[in-house]
Order: sequence, then structure tokens, then C-alpha cells
Amino acid sequence: MIKYKDRVFNLQTDKTSYIMRIAESGHLEHIHYGGKVTDEDFTMVNPIIKRPWSGNPLNDGSYFSLDNFRSECPTYGHTDFSEPMIDLLLDDRRVFDFRYISHQIGDKHILKTLPSATSGPFVETLELTLKDTLYDIYVKLYYSVYESLDVVVRSLEIINQTDKKLTINKALSASIDFADSDFDMLQLSGAWARERHLIKRDIRSGTSMVDSKRGNSSHQQNPAVAIIRKDCHEDYGQAYGMSLIYSGNFSCVTDVNDYNRLRVGFGINPFHFLWDLKPGESFETPELVMTYSSQGLNKMSQNFHAFIKDHILRGLHQYKERPILLNNWEATYFDFTEKKLLELADKASQVGAEMFVLDDGWFGKRNSPDSSLGDWYVNKDKIPSGLEGLSKKINEKGLKFGLWVEPEMISQKSDLYKNHPDWCLHEVGRSRSETRNQLVLDYTRQDVRDYIVKSLIEVFKNGNIEYVKWDMNRNITEPGSKHYASGEIFHRYILGLYDVLKRITEACPDILFEACAGGGGRFDMGILAYMPQVWTSDDTDAHERVKIQDGTSLFYPPITMGAHVSAVPNHQVDRMTSLETRYHIAASCNLGYELDLTSLTVKELDEIKLQIEDYKSIRKTVQFGKFYRLKSPFNSNETAWQVVNEDQVLVYYYRALSVPNAPMTYLRLKDLEDGKYEYQGRVYTSDYLMNIGIGLMPEKGDFKTRLLRFKKTS
Ligand code: GLA
Repeated sequence: MIKYKDRVFNLQTDKTSYIMRIAESGHLEHIHYGGKVTDEDFTMVNPIIKRPWSGNPLNDGSYFSLDNFRSECPTYGHTDFSEPMIDLLLDDRRVFDFRYISHQIGDKHILKTLPSATSGPFVETLELTLKDTLYDIYVKLYYSVYESLDVVVRSLEIINQTDKKLTINKALSASIDFADSDFDMLQLSGAWARERHLIKRDIRSGTSMVDSKRGNSSHQQNPAVAIIRKDCHEDYGQAYGMSLIYSGNFSCVTDVNDYNRLRVGFGINPFHFLWDLKPGESFETPELVMTYSSQGLNKMSQNFHAFIKDHILRGLHQYKERPILLNNWEATYFDFTEKKLLELADKASQVGAEMFVLDDGWFGKRNSPDSSLGDWYVNKDKIPSGLEGLSKKINEKGLKFGLWVEPEMISQKSDLYKNHPDWCLHEVGRSRSETRNQLVLDYTRQDVRDYIVKSLIEVFKNGNIEYVKWDMNRNITEPGSKHYASGEIFHRYILGLYDVLKRITEACPDILFEACAGGGGRFDMGILAYMPQVWTSDDTDAHERVKIQDGTSLFYPPITMGAHVSAVPNHQVDRMTSLETRYHIAASCNLGYELDLTSLTVKELDEIKLQIEDYKSIRKTVQFGKFYRLKSPFNSNETAWQVVNEDQVLVYYYRALSVPNAPMTYLRLKDLEDGKYEYQGRVYTSDYLMNIGIGLMPEKGDFKTRLLRFKKTS
């Protein structure tokens, strides 16, 4: 609910308030974001205090200064010395001063050029218009309020109504000024095969930043951070979660000034960004999703999970159970024949899997990573029946058929490159740096996008393709293109990507898309708006996956994570873990298998058959339940997660290393509805399970897991 009275806006959700005021000067002032406040008088907040060295832009004889003002839209050069939210250039003029002129409250604001969070009941948007005091430049600040989910979504639009070119050096999605800086920051950082590890850092005087300059949101830093009180933990304390609906270069900067005002700015990375707005043009930033929890991190994650499930995911598969698949990548890599694929599919069908996914290597002359990206036609030497024939044969075995593509790339060894050597991003006169033997297609170009859309739709419609794994296996270098200046390329690339994704997903609404970028190199809400699940990591080792999945769960729900049981010794780390352990860890997300089922023993296949049967009985809970972290792999030898849906409660337990003469572990459940719960033939009360917990007897061996299933009986 958005309230406006006496120059004060109070954006109220069930448990939070976001409060702003139009200051006497017309500047928009931040009052509070956090727990719900129903009071209407905020005269005692942000008093004007005489500060030496703080200038007064009003020259009205008061001590007003933007230097210690809490601004909703800070700019530099007019007494504010901290990180600005926007930085513009008009005719070499760089100082601007935006003040309130009007506002309106209406339906959820939907962006024109970027994916937006969807609307729903009790969702409304406050649109605030500010204008520069000198020029006809307007800034619109959007605040969409999701009342029942405790979420506020912010974005910004800059409109050039002057008769000159306006250059945007920086335009963030949001900037928030907290009254103090007594916080830590949690970020999800990593690398290929070890994505989204949880890192906590102190927020200190001066600036610090997480960002990506790689063209994609990246394995290294995820575009989502939590700003938390020092005493905050899973179940206690104040946590602010912020996550961007964007898949490209981003930055999140914290800036603490001399009076401990903490400014958090989040949006498109201003590094290597310069955007020209002609007269009459406007620029919109991605949406930043924010939530506040006074009950610790777990609640913050749950708010995000609910929001993503209801307002980021969309389309036919949003609320559909996801299929259990067999992917042939780690089973065969590039080395397969149609016969081998069918043998794998036979086994997949025998064990009860629901889909067979043909990964890389089916097109052009692709037998290694060094060729054929761009040549999206089937290699009949490998697959004589073509995709149509193969998918039919797979369907006859009772399995759906899925396909891998990497449509944003081009190999120099390809027909496409021969015909269009200028279709990749490149800087004229400079070498084109290859990564994994490939270059990046220039998605800023309409002709390139049209070609890709047309050829992929042709592939997807030729053969009964019900799932697509959309891969992207390198970062962007030499960000140059024929049509646009260098500073526009990164953002235009992402706009181009979203255009392609929109057209393809609209043309093929039945297909379930799974995003991938060398595993989880582009795990963000921008991608999730088109593809409702992501291949979480190329690392399929159960032990490593525990951290990756736990870290990812800080913002993203299990239904967005693909997780596969693979072979041992594990291909990424050479580790041996049991089939049971691999299953338990993968079965906490969207389950798949990715190993050569034809090389397994009958006993192993029987075990997999039981696993799949088991997963079918818990899938609804895993994918649609409420997720809790009970124990963290980042600070202990043990990890535990709980998921609750209807009358089913699942608890996943993992112990990394065996402990000699180990103590008992009691797993205490969280937040159970009052009542009785059946577990292994015995009935427990909810208070028993939450206060005493289930005792796990000490057991020898490394990498041990348990999956405990509870059923609510009354
Ligand atoms: C990437 C993906 C893998 C696999 C290969 C195929 O690395 O993350 O899952 O699809 O490409 O080349």
C-alpha cells in the first residue's frame, strides 16, 4: 500500500516500510527502509546539523547540505561528495540538481526494453518525477510495492527533453542512504565450477564494490547482495536483500561517509558505459528487487524465493513440476553416435527418467570445442535420422527430448564465420581474443539476431523438442561493433539477448528452457525471466555442490537450480562419493543424471530406479516447498536443509568428513505447523522436532548424507 501525506511517502508492505519525504528544497529524502512504521510525523528524522566543510546548495542561510542529506537520487557536484546514482554530461556540463515535480500511483510499472517483475494482486507502483533545476532533463524513480511479499522493486528512467545530446555516464537502478553503517555485506562470489560461495565483508568508511566487467553477470560475482546487521544470522537479525533483474555488467557499491551514512548503489556497471540520448529519448535501468527481513537471512531468502517463483518466473513451466532428465554430456562428451544415444535413452527409460537431453556436439562438424558454433544444422554423420528421427525414437521409449544450443557464439571454423566474418563483436584492427576457441556474436545487430532467431526456431520446430539448454561459454572481450560506440556495447548486447530470448520463447512457449553459462556464470533474475531454471554449476561433485547450492539459495529457490548425479571419480575434482550421496544432494533441486548409464552395474541401475521413484514422491515439495537452511557448509562440517510443502517435510543432511568418536547430531527443525509428524514409523509432536530434534547416530565415512522424510498426520 502506498500512502502519501504531508510530503511523505510511506510504501508499506505487510511487515516493512519504505519512507521518503519531499524536502523543503524539493530534493527527495530517504527517511527509513526496514520494519513497518505507521507513524506519520518524521520531523525528528534527519535533522539539519551544522557541519564544517559541508556546503549549502540553496544558499538560504541554513546549514542544509547534500553532503549529509539522505538522498533518494544523489548526484555529484552540488555539495554531495559520495557515490552518485546518476552522472550525466550535457554540452560538457556535469553538474545537475534534480528536484521533485510530481508523482503518481498506478499499476505495476512494466519496462519497455528490459525484463520486469510481473504484476499481481496488491502490487502498485509509485512513479516520482524529478527535474533538473536548469535543463529539461527529467528523472523518473519507480517504486513497485509487493505488499504480501515484503518486496519493493526500484528502477529509474532518464528523459532528455533538451534539444541537445545528453550522455549518461552512470545510471543506477537504486541508491539507498542508510542512517548508519553498522552493517556487514554478504556477497556470492566464486569462479567457474565453484560459483556463489558465501562471503561476508565488513562495511567500512570509504567505498567498496562487487561488480562484473565480463559482459555477463558472472561466475565471479553474482548481482545480488545482502546488507545485514553485525549480529544477523539465519534466524535472527535484520537483513536487506537486493538483487538485480539483469544479466550483464553490474556494480553494487557501498559508500560510508564521515558521518557514517551508508549509501548502497546498485545497477548497470558504469565502468565502460557511456550512453547517448538524443533529444526526446529516454533510458531505463533494470529493476532492483529489495526485501527486508527482521527475522534473519532465512526469511530474507524465503522472501526472494517466493518473489522469484511468483513474479520472475513466468510461462507454461512456472508452476509445473520439472522433468527428471538424463543428459549425455558427462557420459559421452563429443564422442557419440546415434546408436550410443539410443542405448543411453534405453537405460534412462528403464530407470524411470522422463527426458533425454542431447548436449553439445550434434551440429555442423562439431567434434570438439573448436568448431561449428553458428552452424545450427544437424550432423547427419553422427545422427543419421536427424533431430526429427532421433526425437521420434526417443519419444517412442517414453522419454521427452531436449537439446543443447549455444546461440550467442560463433566459431572461426564455421560456415557462419566464413560467410559473415564481421558478425562477431570485435575492435577493427585488433586481434579477436578467443576463449574456448570461440567468439561472441554481435547481438547488438538486428541482422545477427534475426538470423539466430530464425535458425533456432527452425531447429526447435523440426523434431519434438520439449526442452532446450541455452549455453554461453565465454566472457566478452573487444566490445566493439559497427553500429554503436564502445560504451554502449555491453548494455546493447544484453538488450539484444533479451530480444532474442523474448522472440524465441514466445515462438516456442511449450519448450522448457534451462539457462547455462559454463554452469552458473549467468545465474540472475534477468535470465530467469525467460528461462525458469539454470544449470547451477559445471561442478557435479556432491561435496562441492553443497556449497554452491547453499550459497545460491541465499537468493534463488531450488526450483531454479538444475542438479545432476554424475559418475565417480568425479570429472571435475576426481572425488569418490557414494551414489546415495550424489542422489541426495542432487535431489534437493531439479534432479537429473549425467553419466553413462550403459556402463553401470545392474545393482547401480536398480538403485537409480529407486532414487527416481523416490524423487517423484518428493518432487513437488522440493520444487514448490518453503526452503530453510538449518546448518551451513560455510562454517561447519555439516550442512542441513529443510523443505516444507503441504503435509510433507524433507530434511537433507550432509556431513563432509568423518569425525572420530563423533558426538551425536540433533537436527532441530524450523517453523513447523503445530501438530504431529510421522517419521520412520514413529509419531513426533512439532515442538519435539523443533526443540529436541531428530538425533543422528554417529556414522563412519566421509561425504555422508541422510534424507529424512516427515509426514504431517494431524
Ligand atoms: C558448458 C556447459 C556444460 C556442457 C558444455 C558443452 O561447459 O556448462 O554443461 O553443456 O558446455 O560444451
